[in-house]
Amino acid sequence: MKQEVLVGLSERQKQLPCKYFYDAHGSQLFEKICSQPEYYLSRTELAILEEEAAAMIAWFHQGSLIELGSGASLKVRHLLAALPGRGRDITYVPVDLCEPALRRAALALTGLYPELALHGIIADYTEGWKFLEETASPRLITFLGSNIGNFRPDICKDFLTGLRSRMNPIDRLIVGFDLVKEKSVLEAAYNDSHGVTEAFNRNILTVINRELGGDFDPAAFEHDAFYNEAAQQIEMHLSASRPMTVSITGIPMRVSLATGETIFTENCRKFTRESVADLARQTAFKLVRWWSDSRQWFALAEFLPADNGGC
Ligand code: AVJ
Repeated sequence: MKQEVLVGLSERQKQLPCKYFYDAHGSQLFEKICSQPEYYLSRTELAILEEEAAAMIAWFHQGSLIELGSGASLKVRHLLAALPGRGRDITYVPVDLCEPALRRAALALTGLYPELALHGIIADYTEGWKFLEETASPRLITFLGSNIGNFRPDICKDFLTGLRSRMNPIDRLIVGFDLVKEKSVLEAAYNDSHGVTEAFNRNILTVINRELGGDFDPAAFEHDAFYNEAAQQIEMHLSASRPMTVSITGIPMRVSLATGETIFTENCRKFTRESVADLARQTAFKLVRWWSDSRQWFALAEFLPADNGGC
């Protein structure tokens, strides 16, 4: 963390890795974002899941259902509910960095599905795929919530290529993508009227203060989220409202910001069916199925390893 923060805040465009949003408070704020009227993403994805779960997993009778970034394991319930055989021959494998959340989620799920085998894995899936060796094929891997949108394009390709190289031809991957749409709709989703996204954005400074002994004044930063049309991404920044020098004793380092200078905290890429198909092709996958809502605001895409002939 020290190294990442040191490097990020030393760059010309200062930046912080968005994974540091999610301490206990930040995770709570994200849950709250999901229930804001402007934040259509989770709600739309859930509706697609509810509608299409049966079709998505009709083929899946046995093996491992692996969820990357499982959090509270709420979305996967829609898949589990539609499992042929009520999950008797399935092992659910939630993968998450946050051990308390994973334990809570696992307990709740085994209460609902006493017959379900569960094998939780505490891991940062952005750091490699070794943990996949512990799981049996066929695998259905899910990566939901448009979390893939947080990766820069090059990192995104590395991520999928790495995952692909660990998959067997019979394994499948389902990814949630937020889609390109009208700018006003996108920008509203990241500028909710209750200021929850703003609080979420500022919370990253509180995390840095606590974890690394920083003295950021979060109130001295403005939330700035806008759609970069050329890059097809929402960019979230924290903009200094006055000149300041911040010290982070745990690194140690000092950072100076001018009025209006920003720290880039998150990019959330938006996709089209074509860009998803391209992404699949470039990472040795094939886009085989596509589920979307009537407004085509969000999509779930099924990727198969490209060399299995398709089916
Ligand atoms: C959890 C990465 C999908 O990009 O929409 C929500 C995070 N940031 N509001 C997103 C987020 C600001 C979210 N993801």
